[in-house]
Amino acid sequence: MEHAKSARRCWLCALLTLLSVGATVVSSPQAAAWQPDKKKPKEPRGSHATDHLLRQALADQNVTPLDSGLPSEPNADLLLLGQALYFDHELSGNRDIACATCHHPTLSTGDGLSLPIGTAAVVAGALGPARTKGPDRSLIPRNAPEVFNRGSTEWFSQFWDSRVVEDGLGGFLSPAGLDLPAGLPNVLAVQAMFPVTSRDEMRGAETDPNELSAIPDADLPAMWAALVARLLAIPEYRKMFSDAYEIDDALLETVIGFEHAAMAIAAFEAEAFTFLDSPFDRYLAGDNHALSSAQKKGALLFYGQAQCSQCHAGPLLTDQQHYNLLVPHLGPGKVAGSDPPIDPGRALVTGVASDAFRFRTPPLRNVAVTAPYMHNGAYTDLKAAVRHHLDVVVAFDQYDPADHLDQVELIDTVVYSDVAGSMPDLEPIELSKKDFNHLISFLKSLTAPRLKQRLRATIPSSVPSGLPIDDF
Ligand code: HEC
Ligand code: HEC
Repeated sequence: MEHAKSARRCWLCALLTLLSVGATVVSSPQAAAWQPDKKKPKEPRGSHATDHLLRQALADQNVTPLDSGLPSEPNADLLLLGQALYFDHELSGNRDIACATCHHPTLSTGDGLSLPIGTAAVVAGALGPARTKGPDRSLIPRNAPEVFNRGSTEWFSQFWDSRVVEDGLGGFLSPAGLDLPAGLPNVLAVQAMFPVTSRDEMRGAETDPNELSAIPDADLPAMWAALVARLLAIPEYRKMFSDAYEIDDALLETVIGFEHAAMAIAAFEAEAFTFLDSPFDRYLAGDNHALSSAQKKGALLFYGQAQCSQCHAGPLLTDQQHYNLLVPHLGPGKVAGSDPPIDPGRALVTGVASDAFRFRTPPLRNVAVTAPYMHNGAYTDLKAAVRHHLDVVVAFDQYDPADHLDQVELIDTVVYSDVAGSMPDLEPIELSKKDFNHLISFLKSLTAPRLKQRLRATIPSSVPSGLPIDDF
């Protein structure tokens, strides 16, 4: 136990050291002393002219270095609590799945699946392709997104349909309505209130014998209270909540709500999964040598002729707005009992018919390592996901699931009739093969260096419940 604890502390001290020397976030143009991967970055060929054009486009479109949103003085106790909760199966009704199961550091903070497999998997703790759904269980209808850089103050929405969003008055709109506890600081913390309430993801089916699954679906406060009771029954969590929030042990039951768990999880996600030193980020910070000449050509297309930045805009590479790209439908859908099954996307939140099949533009940092892509993982290959954009009608018509899906059980779920019958929000884009490849080169420049090792360092060696930690 002692050993485990010191291992976790070590992750934190390494992190704090990094932070204090400013190595996680490149904010100064003098990145000369900075050492990327062992292999030498390609000398930028081309010229000042390319940099001039690219920097002009970036300036015109307000693409500035991303604000990490990380506090200048992190609360180490809060981060340790958040880390424990993020990896602990104790948060699921059946005690068999954690946030990390679907957003795993070794899977680039996703799950490596087109559609996730929630509680009661055949082998609890199995990750990625090895994870198979339990009998009579349903796949989760949407792809588990990566969770990089979600601490940035630029974020005002969460989920593929933005059902968690700032309300413009200092509060939030969320599926909890008035039941959402006060005091949540940002959309990331609000988001963390919800996975634990989902039957298929974490809470369990009505027939599962646990106190969380017995709660009626509409009673979110009862679910949150039941989870707090679980956590406060574990002495190590009592100590951690008490340290993180500076609350006397005797007062924990009165003061602590699940929002305190959610805030800790959000603080951990932001701290652990913020990486702002990709070649593109270093270029944004002023280093003209950070991108190869192919990447610069790709960037010029992205911010110009290919019009990617119309939606993948600004410092986050998303405008957080919603579009219908005619992504082929697959999986169980979001409307119970509909035949064929469908996922109306943003329309489920707004009730506006023209929002049908619109999904929030995803951010693109580290996109080369976050397959599968799209709101339902319809593409396992980055080039295919980008090619889909070039002519969405043709891509929809010609989609062959056997070419694009690794999860064999999904192949038969693809709906060929035109369920996405509404108008697509993207006109065809003309690109030569060469331009297309430059664009892909640019997308690869969005990956942070040594990402695998840095992510691995965020996994604790144990959690307070003593339950196993999912890992390969
Ligand atoms: C069973 C798999 C699964 C589990 C477990 C899970 N998630 Fe997710 N997560 C998803 C899916 C699927 C989505 C997208 C759902 C949607 O948009 O409708 C998502 C969305 C998110 C997002 C939104 C990202 C964005 O930009 O919109 C965050 C953040 C997140 N999850 C964090 C968590 C945390 C924290 C936990 C634990 C409390 C957790 N997840 C547990 C599958 C999972
Ligand atoms: C009209 C807005 C719009 C434009 C223009 C646009 N995209 Fe997208 N992009 C989206 C949306 C929305 C999605 C998700 C669609 C879905 O899942 O239904 C997406 C998905 C993606 C993905 C998959 C990312 C992931 O994590 O799933 C990549 C890669 C991508 N876009 C790259 C590009 C490139 C490169 C261009 C320029 C050729 C481009 N996009 C132009 C809106 C746009």
